[in-house]
This record gives sequence, C-alpha cells and structure tokens, in this order.
Amino acid sequence: MVMTMFEPVRISPSILSADFMDLASDIATIQRGGADWVHVDVMDGHFVPNLTMGVPLVKQLKRSCTMPLDVHLMISNPLRQIPWFVEAGADIVTFHIEAVSGDEGLQAVELARSLGAQVGVAVKPATPVGAVAHLVPLVDMVLVMSVEPGFSGQSYIEGSELKVTEVVDVAREAGCAPVVQVDGGIGPGTLGGVVAAGADCLVCGNAVFAANAPERALADIRARAEEVRASSAAEAAAHA
Ligand code: DX5
Ligand code: ZN
Repeated sequence: MVMTMFEPVRISPSILSADFMDLASDIATIQRGGADWVHVDVMDGHFVPNLTMGVPLVKQLKRSCTMPLDVHLMISNPLRQIPWFVEAGADIVTFHIEAVSGDEGLQAVELARSLGAQVGVAVKPATPVGAVAHLVPLVDMVLVMSVEPGFSGQSYIEGSELKVTEVVDVAREAGCAPVVQVDGGIGPGTLGGVVAAGADCLVCGNAVFAANAPERALADIRARAEEVRASSAAEAAAHA
C-alpha cells in the first residue's frame, strides 16, 4: 500500500467557490474548520476558458493567511509565471503537464524548487498518467483532475479513482510517495473511491463553501475520509 496511508488526509478548500466580497471571513471559517491548505485556482482565459485570480491576490492572502497556499496554475506558459507566484507567496505551485512541452516540465520543477517552493504537476481528465510518469519521482505532488479544469461546481467524473491508483502504482514503482491530490467534484459522497485508491489530499470547492455550515462540511469530509482510510487499512491488513 501507499506509504502515506496512515497519515491524515489533507483538505485544501478551493476559494474559487468562496465569497470574494467576504474572503477574509471565508478564510477564517475554513481555518477554524481545520483546513490544511488553501487551494487557489489561477485561470488565464487561455489554457482554460475561465479567468479567475492572480498574483496580487496570492500576495494579499500571504499577508494574512497562515495556512499554506496551494496554487493551482491552469495557465499556458507556466515557466514564465511560476516565479511570480512563488515570490507572491505560493507554498506549493502546481502546473499542468498539458501546458508544457519537451523538457519544460522538468524545468518547471527545477525552477519552483530553486525558488524555495514545493511543486506539483497536474493531469487533466483525458491525459494519461504516463504523461507525468517521468516527473512523479521529482515532484512533491501529483494532481489528478476529476473534472475538466475551468469551473467549480462540476460533477465528479466517475473512474477518476482509477487514475489515482495508476499514480500510486507509478510512485510505488519509482520508490517515492508524492502527495496525490484530487480536484473536482469532491465531497462526502464522492471522496470514497479516490481515498481508497490512495489520494491523500482533497480539493473541495462547492462541498465546503456552498454548504450551509462550511466548518461542519469540512469536519464531515474529514470524518468520511478517515473512515475510508481506516476500512482500507483493515482490508489491506486482512489480505496481508
Ligand atoms: C476546477 C478547479 C477546482 C474547482 C473545485 O477547474 O481546479 O479547484 O474549483 O471546485 P469543486 O470542488 O466545486 O469542483
Ligand atoms: Zn483547482
């Protein structure tokens, strides 16, 4: 099984679903609710059709937010902008493999690291895990998209958990254990498959911020994830 199996699942609420006019209060709410990271969805209107937030917001978040900033770059030419986001305060910066070519993926990893940030690589739903296999031993995190990037509030694409299994297998074969993050349509009803498959970081947008009580929603997500973890561990032990 994955080495991270007994560590708590991290939860990274996506502020794309937050109230931008009351962001400070929403950040305080998820902090009280025990969020591990803050997921910042950067979209450029080019790599994806939507346009969201950028460097100035990351800079301001960094001034007041003590949770690590998990910056998801859905942008073309990430090599150009990684330094901007790291300088602004991104703790972990994740670029898309579909946005780079040749050895740019490797360069992006080295660039983020050289600037002192952690680095992740993301795959869109249609991109095979093989496209990032060469980077898996080098990154801190692999992000499996379980919706088409671009918008919050979409439905989880069934079968995304199989990709999580593939990432875990590639990592195990390479003798490494990057964080495996899943992003898109994740909530108490959909997290079971991905957590059982070995995901250890869940991005949740609507499941947290569109809930009546975001703090309770976070607690429910965590409880459900830990329940799945525990039963996967029991099953693994029974088959050992
Ligand atoms: C989609 C973004 C996600 C999204 C998550 O392109 O990367 O982070 O905002 O939102 P939910 O959880 O509502 O799908
Ligand atoms: Zn995201």
